[in-house]
Amino acid sequence: MIQKKDNSLSRGRVTRPAYAKINLYLDVLSCREDGFHDLLTVMHSISLHDDIRVEWFLSDTTDISLRVYGAKLPLDSKNLAYRAAELFLAHTQQTAALHINIRKRLPIAAGLAGGSSNAAAVLLALNELAGYPLTEEELLALGATLGSDVPFCMVGGSQICRGRGEMMRPLACGTPLYLVVAKGKERVSTPRAFALMDEHYRRFDGSVPHGGQPEKLYRAVADGKLSSVPACIYNAFEAVILPTCPEAAALREQLLSLGAYAACMSGSGPSVFGLFETLEQAQRAAKAIGRHAHVATSAPAMI
Ligand code: C5P
Repeated sequence: MIQKKDNSLSRGRVTRPAYAKINLYLDVLSCREDGFHDLLTVMHSISLHDDIRVEWFLSDTTDISLRVYGAKLPLDSKNLAYRAAELFLAHTQQTAALHINIRKRLPIAAGLAGGSSNAAAVLLALNELAGYPLTEEELLALGATLGSDVPFCMVGGSQICRGRGEMMRPLACGTPLYLVVAKGKERVSTPRAFALMDEHYRRFDGSVPHGGQPEKLYRAVADGKLSSVPACIYNAFEAVILPTCPEAAALREQLLSLGAYAACMSGSGPSVFGLFETLEQAQRAAKAIGRHAHVATSAPAMI
C-alpha cells in the first residue's frame, strides 16, 4: 500500500503546564464606565494544572486544530485557547498550521482561571515556537485583550493585582501553601457573578463592605505566616454567590470542619479552597471529601 507522504514541516512542539489560580484576597472596588470592575486581589498559582501541547507546522495558510481530552469544550474560537492562537498569529503577521492538545483537569466555570490559564499557556508556547518575536510586556498586553486573568496566568506565582486584574505587583511567598480545592456540580458564569454584585451593591454607588485586611495579608504571605491571620483572607463574591450555591457553601464548611485554618471561595466561584498547615492534613481532608476535592500546593512563577 502506498502511504501518503506528509509534506508538512514541523517547526517544533512545546508542552507546558497551565496552572490554576486561587484568590487569597478579592475585593470589588467599583464599577467602571467600560462595564468592567476595578479589583484589588491577591492571586496565587497552584499546582493543579491542565497540560497544553502546541505543535507548529509551516503553512502558507492558517489552520488551527484544537483537541481537548478530559472535558467537553468548544474546539473553535469560542474556546479561549483557540482565540489566543488566532490572536498571536494575526498580531505577529504569520500563518501556520497549529495542532493544540489540552489535557483538561481543572474544573470549568469554577473561578480557578481554567480558560485563562489555557490561553496563557498557548501564548507562551507560540512565542517560544516562533523564536520570541514578542517581548514579555507585549505578550502581557496581548493576553489582557483575551481576558482579565490571562496576564496573571502568564506570570504566575503570587501577585497583588489591580485594575481588571491585569496590573500586577509580585508578592514574595514566604512558604508554600497546602490546600484542598473543592468544586461540586454548581457552575457560575463570571459576567453573571459581576452582574449579581452590581444588583446587590447598586453598581457600587453607596456603602459597600470591604472585608479582610489586605495589607496584613501581604505581610503574612511574605512572612509565611498566613495561618496566624486567617481572617485576612477574603472574597467579596462570597456574600452574593454562596447563598445561591448551597453545595459550595457546604464544601466550604466541610473544609473548616476537617481542620483547614481558613476556607474561602476562589474568584467568582463556586470552587472553594481550604488552607492547611501540612500537606498530610490536606491529603486527609481531600480523602474525606472525596471526588470533588483536589490537593494542591503553590506553583512556581511562569516567567
Ligand atoms: O475579562 P474576562 O473576559 O475574564 O471577564 C469576563 C466578564 O467578567 C467581563 O465581560 C465582565 O462582565 C466581568 N468582569 C468585570 N470586571 C473585571 C473582570 C471581569 O466586570 N475586573
